[in-house]
Amino acid sequence: MSITDDTASRSIPGVAAQPALAFAAFPPDFLWGAATSAYQIEGAVHEDGRALSVWDRFSAVPGATYQGETGEIAADHYHHMEDDVALMAELNLNAYRFSLSWPRILPQGTGAVNERGLDFYDRLVDTLLARGIRPLATLYHWDLPVALQDRGGWLVRDTAYAFADYAEVVARRLGDRVEWWLTHNEPWCSTYLGYALGTHAPGLHDKQLAVKVGHHILLSHGLSVPRMRAHLSPQAHVGIALDFYPVYAANDHSETLLAVKQADTFRNRWFLDPLFRGSYPDNLFTNLGVTPPPIHEDDFSIISTPIDFLGVNYYSRMLVRGSEDVVIITEHTVPFNNFEAIERIPGASYTEMGWEIFPDGLANILTRIHREYAPKAMVVTESGAAFDDHLDDNNHIHDKLRIDYLQAHIQIVAQVIRQGAPIKGYIVWSFLDNFEWSEGYRKRFGLVYVDYPTQRRIVKDSGRWYASFVASQSASRPSF
Ligand code: FCB
Repeated sequence: MSITDDTASRSIPGVAAQPALAFAAFPPDFLWGAATSAYQIEGAVHEDGRALSVWDRFSAVPGATYQGETGEIAADHYHHMEDDVALMAELNLNAYRFSLSWPRILPQGTGAVNERGLDFYDRLVDTLLARGIRPLATLYHWDLPVALQDRGGWLVRDTAYAFADYAEVVARRLGDRVEWWLTHNEPWCSTYLGYALGTHAPGLHDKQLAVKVGHHILLSHGLSVPRMRAHLSPQAHVGIALDFYPVYAANDHSETLLAVKQADTFRNRWFLDPLFRGSYPDNLFTNLGVTPPPIHEDDFSIISTPIDFLGVNYYSRMLVRGSEDVVIITEHTVPFNNFEAIERIPGASYTEMGWEIFPDGLANILTRIHREYAPKAMVVTESGAAFDDHLDDNNHIHDKLRIDYLQAHIQIVAQVIRQGAPIKGYIVWSFLDNFEWSEGYRKRFGLVYVDYPTQRRIVKDSGRWYASFVASQSASRPSF
């Protein structure tokens, strides 16, 4: 893959010429899209019969989020859905990844279906399809109904069965039209950030609880796959989106090499191994200092039910160094006291999240998963960056850093496809600026800027660049 011309950006008013990609790499049916999730954009938390989720409750706890911000209004997508989809079409997206809010559809988590909640997603799907945009639906992007949390949430096995019932309800309604499905988004985050680090809902600090939660989430995934398939078209694809941080060694000392292995087990293999190998990786629980969760006899065969594709969410890497010192635990470090994750690498560039920009890590993780786990297909279901976006006097957002970021990562995907990995799509996080969980609204990931007081949408330069790039792809329609 080489940078060969700049036609993809030449026609964009206000965007400085960016070198574009050679067009020969991507198959014609490649998914070019952007993603969001329900709680991060919808707002309308009290409307049409929706009940509360754990994120409504958690974000209301003083100090839980930046300046106490919540998803109560967010990007008000619930009321702007048609216009938002029209904007996706303007950006030439041929795919859109969204999540469904469980408490909109089953306010009590189980039992009575709230048809008005389902109607919203039904309309969304029809609106997308009318514009030639393929929907990728995620069932769970962290917003468990509080009704279920109050009955034990993911700490009880029953929640896994409740999830499978919910999955079937959704598949029955949308399965005739949606062909790409993800059960969960980033179970590592809902598990570890939610139950061990306490930075996400429900805000607990107990590693022992976290491993139990992780197991039930995996079980819920496996239980739901056949329940969904019974209502999907034969060509539908069912998968799960995991988040990955490839781990690199800062030196070649033996304690560092051991640290790399430990961090990789914890950060990348915890969920991958049960799904593809039907077991937890060796030493996962010992390293964490916990006992294994209760595992029933058939659990691993359920969890490792074959899936059609793996969603790969990639933002950054970890660079670790073996150490004698006890180090501070953050989202990016690891809960072990014999090594540290280096948070600021001299010479490296960082996004506003403090995440190192490291496109090669995407090649690393995609080729490694292909080689070692061989999923039938992969979609990059999240890739993107928060930068310090500002509206200029002409109402433009010149986010060249984001254009560079996307371009570099797309180039990596092209390279990995050429090496033979079955990558079927690239989905930018995010379509719109949105509620970035505990960071509130101050971190902007969108291709489209949201002016929250007015809910006006303004396409950033990166959105224009992406639109132009995607258009150039469909125009060239190369044979692969
Ligand atoms: C991922 C989440 C997504 C968003 C991005 C920045 O971990 O899936 O909701 O917060 O990070």
